[in-house]
Formats: sequence, structure tokens, C-alpha cells
Amino acid sequence: MVFWKKLFSSSDAVDASESTRLKEDLFNLDNDSSQPQIIFSTEKDIDFYELEELCDRVGWARRPLRKVKKAIEHSFLVVSMWEVTGKKRRLIGFARATSDHAFNATIWDVVVDPKFQSRGLGKAMMKYAIAQLRSADISNITLFADPQVVKFYQRLGFILDPEGIKGMFWYPD
Ligand SMILES: CC(C)(COP(=O)(O)OP(=O)(O)OC[C@H]1O[C@@H](n2cnc3c(N)ncnc32)[C@H](O)[C@@H]1OP(=O)(O)O)[C@@H](O)C(=O)NCCC(=O)NCCS
Repeated sequence: MVFWKKLFSSSDAVDASESTRLKEDLFNLDNDSSQPQIIFSTEKDIDFYELEELCDRVGWARRPLRKVKKAIEHSFLVVSMWEVTGKKRRLIGFARATSDHAFNATIWDVVVDPKFQSRGLGKAMMKYAIAQLRSADISNITLFADPQVVKFYQRLGFILDPEGIKGMFWYPD
């Protein structure tokens, strides 16, 4: 399928040394389809139940599926990460971004299946998402980090409160 991108293919923003390390350490990626492969997709046609199950696994509150569907449909970018073994595929990561299609994009819902965390995959998925946004000539990429993951994003180059700018929120009473 055209939309699939194999992890660490030439279009990825992950540098060669990093991809080599990950390949060797983690997945024994080779051309044998019986070996698990990690694959990225920008296809929006995602099984919402599978996505919500992934979100469940990291303890996120359930959201109405019709809203999740709408949010994905109206997102500028949807990135999913899959473990593919033979013909079987399993959703192991997700992120999406909204955008004005010109200057700004905001990344939401970044999640990696707990069984696949701490292997560099969240970082690779974020680099992939950033590369997609940069290829659309988006230069201002923002996100809202939960306190416990600020360092994860800082390692990717995100800056906290640049020039003193504060994120501000309005919630209904
Ligand atoms: C946050 C999350 C996406 C990170 O994914 P991951 O695959 O575990 O992260 P990686 O293994 O790619 O880590 C990349 C780097 O960030 C660091 N890192 C990852 N999580 C971190 C954390 N919570 N705090 C500090 N550093 C962290 C890693 O040590 C690694 O550092 P290195 O580049 O120096 O080796 C994942 O833990 C997750 O899904 N958490 C639950 C959902 C969530 O909190 N999402 C974010 C909402 S804002």
C-alpha cells in the first residue's frame, strides 16, 4: 500500500546512526516478513476502537468515539505506528496534529503502547510527525506536554515557554 512507510526509510527524519542502533537493539528488522516490522502511516482510516484501546493502556480517560472520529477527520496530520508481522498489524503508537495549513501546527494525543515504550519509538514517531509537518512547510510546531513528559519533548527540541510565552486555557465552568 502506498501510504505505508517502513520505519527508518530514507524519508524519515531519524538519522542513520540512530536507526542502526534501533534496528540492532530492538526489532531485528530485515526483509523477512515473518519478523516483526515497525511501520508508520499517515492514513486517517484508523479503527477508533483500536485507538481507544491503545489510549486505555496508558490510562487515558475514554472519549466519545464520535468525537474521536471527528477529531481525526479534521486533523491536518495523523501518524500511526504499527507492529506488522506477516499479514497481522497492531496499533502501537499514535499522534495527530491540527493546523492552519500555513504557519502553525499543534500536536495532540501522543501515545506509545506501554509494551513498546522506552525503546526510542516515541522519539522516532515524533521525528516522523515533525518531518511530515516540515515537509508541508509548517514552521511553528507546538504542543501541550503533561508535566511528566516535558523532558521527552525537550529531548526532541521543544522549548518550554520560549521568550516567556505562556500557554493559556479557557474551560467552561
Ligand atoms: C511519552 C511517550 C510517548 C514516550 O514514548 P517512548 O517510546 O517511551 O519514548 P522514547 O523511548 O522514544 O524516549 C525518547 C527519549 O525521551 C526520554 N523519555 C521518554 N519518556 C520520558 C519521560 N516521561 N520523562 C523523561 N524522559 C523521557 C527517553 O529516556 C529517551 O531519551 P534519550 O533520547 O536520551 O534516550 C510514552 O511514554 C507514552 O505514550 N506515555 C503515555 C502517554 C503520554 O503521556 N503521552 C504524552 C501526553 S503530553
